[in-house]
Amino acid sequence: MIDVTKIRKDFPILKREVNGKPLVYLDNAATSQTPQQVIDVIVDYYQNYNANIHRGVHALSQEATDKYEVARQKIQKHFNAKNSYEIIFTSGTTHSINIVANGFTTLLEKGDEILVSAMEHHSNIVPWQMLAERTGAVLKVIPMNLEGELKMDVYAELLSNKTKLVFCNHISNALGTINPIEIIIDKAHAVGAAVLIDGAQAAPHVKADMQKLDVDFYTASAHKMCGPTGEGMLYGKEEWLNKLPPYQGGGEMIAEVTFEKTTYADLPHKFEAGTPNICGGIAFGAALDYMNAIGFEAIAAYEHELLEYATQELLKIEGLKIYGTAKNKTSVISFKIEGLHPYDIGSILDKLGVAVRTGHHCAQPIMDFYKIPGTVRASFSFYNTMDEVDALVAAVVRAKGMLE
Ligand code: ALA
Repeated sequence: MIDVTKIRKDFPILKREVNGKPLVYLDNAATSQTPQQVIDVIVDYYQNYNANIHRGVHALSQEATDKYEVARQKIQKHFNAKNSYEIIFTSGTTHSINIVANGFTTLLEKGDEILVSAMEHHSNIVPWQMLAERTGAVLKVIPMNLEGELKMDVYAELLSNKTKLVFCNHISNALGTINPIEIIIDKAHAVGAAVLIDGAQAAPHVKADMQKLDVDFYTASAHKMCGPTGEGMLYGKEEWLNKLPPYQGGGEMIAEVTFEKTTYADLPHKFEAGTPNICGGIAFGAALDYMNAIGFEAIAAYEHELLEYATQELLKIEGLKIYGTAKNKTSVISFKIEGLHPYDIGSILDKLGVAVRTGHHCAQPIMDFYKIPGTVRASFSFYNTMDEVDALVAAVVRAKGMLE
């Protein structure tokens, strides 16, 4: 059971006002808020042991290195990766995906096929389009139905021995759909294709088990799960990470450098050129500690209640339509009111202290599919309350009244 009153005390930002109104923060799919426990870890790093890692013989460098590597182990444990060196620190999911897309340049041939789902964020479309351009591979799309669920029968038909890669999100940022990634992975493996799952939206809500899923690559961003921005991770199976070439050259990722030849460092360092976001990595570990102490089962159960209540109340508003009505979905509600532009609604909500995202949510193909310019998206976290759902609904009713 979630004690939301107690939890909210951990988040200093939730006490503030916006435009003279108490903040109702419902843009969690864009970025989550940061609890004091994680803020303290960030402050402690800069106050007490800020130093570069894996380089210095001095005490501060050792301390920072130890904490950074402990954070990697926390991430390994959280995602149940077999080895800690299968966790690559990145600046976030976009960076993680680009490492893989770049790496496959040498592994694909003209005519190979790569499959992407119809409900991807641009960061899980554009790097693959660029890869297809570089290699002559063909990009094919797994379609979805009007509810926002993937057409799994068509997916099965698209798979063949030409398919080399499949990429799909675990949870859609724009629709909230929880995709059947277990089936997606198994079917892809049956034809010998590798699978990358974009876990950016899932990681704040569900705990994904790398070994149980048998997934080849999985990504997450710290800032969507109570951690800092500019920090994330790429999980890759050891065999794949060994096959892929490095993404960036520089310090830290080498074994030996001469002007004639450079050899690369072992995993994970091969993919971690340059000074990383040291504090971010340590804070990512602290954010996982924080969320695990609450418990992902409790988080999912409570967020489901928020979703059900908000869906029920919003649907009472005449002319309001929810986009993304999958049977299996998380606490994201994308909606539009007939005749009203999402941006106008969002702007009025902001004046009333309610923070939502409006527009295409970096998922233009989804908006094209529904033939709409965008939606208003309210995305809930475990620190939101039923009262905040009421505040959202009241604000939408007010906005509607003002705009009609
Ligand atoms: N990908 C983030 C979102 O959905 C930024 O808002």
